[in-house]
Amino acid sequence: MARLQNYFTSAKGNSAPQSQSITTEQPASEQTPRVRHLAIIMDGNGRWATRRHLPRLAGHKAGVNALRRVLECAIDESIEMLSVYAFSTENWGRPHTEVDGLMRLFWETIRSDIEKLHREGVRLRHLGRLKDLSPDIQKAVQDSVDLTQNNTRIGLNVCFNYGGRAELVDAVRQIIADGRNPETIDEDMISSYLYTRDLPDPDMVIRTAGEMRVSNFLLWQSAYSEYYATPTLWPDFGKEDLCAALDSFHRRQRRFGRLG
Ligand code: IPE
Ligand code: IPE
Ligand code: MG
Repeated sequence: MARLQNYFTSAKGNSAPQSQSITTEQPASEQTPRVRHLAIIMDGNGRWATRRHLPRLAGHKAGVNALRRVLECAIDESIEMLSVYAFSTENWGRPHTEVDGLMRLFWETIRSDIEKLHREGVRLRHLGRLKDLSPDIQKAVQDSVDLTQNNTRIGLNVCFNYGGRAELVDAVRQIIADGRNPETIDEDMISSYLYTRDLPDPDMVIRTAGEMRVSNFLLWQSAYSEYYATPTLWPDFGKEDLCAALDSFHRRQRRFGRLG
């Protein structure tokens, strides 16, 4: 809770402290909660391609274009952090051709886009098990993370080979390896062992393509995130869809287990 409180209270400008944003006593501008960290389950690439009688990889390529578009919109909307689910630990179970295509596409996209992302002030982070990816991908990711580490315009967290359960397994292993005393384990300490250490929890999680499930995404971090599902397939997702999601968020009342 301390992390969450800091995240809200450290806000500049129009964000109210978390405890104030749920009262009716604040001026309207301070009551409106703001999406500072947006997370997206980018789903529906395959269906988008199939409907066009195209190979699934064409859907994934269209999905990359959608991400480029949405990143620009997120910057316009003053979103500070965008976390996107691009490849899950369960996606290894897909046919080899699709997995290979996704690996290549990830590598190519990092290589082709990183200079532009850097110029635009994007700070790239990778969330997931990097060591299970090929050496080429590991290097491209590490170089990009290093290159952009001082950028502050927006944080882009790419969840690739990410699984919420794997993340917790990795955290528990490291806690034990560090010989931590069980008495000192609390929520803040567990958070500090996750891939997202030092990052705020997402305010909102959007899932495209109509499914109503979490699919192992940010299980710990989304404990109090607002969920938003849209039937729009990810390659078709754009500014209007993003604004609709943000509008929905602005109409909600976050209670964090307390009375409204
Ligand atoms: C999401 O699109 C991208 C990945 C999971 C890699 P899908 O490939 O899951 O698309 P659908 O759900 O089959 O339409
Ligand atoms: C979730 O989508 C993973 C990503 C978007 C990367 P999936 O398509 O893999 O999820 P399920 O299989 O529908 O739950
Ligand atoms: Mg899917």
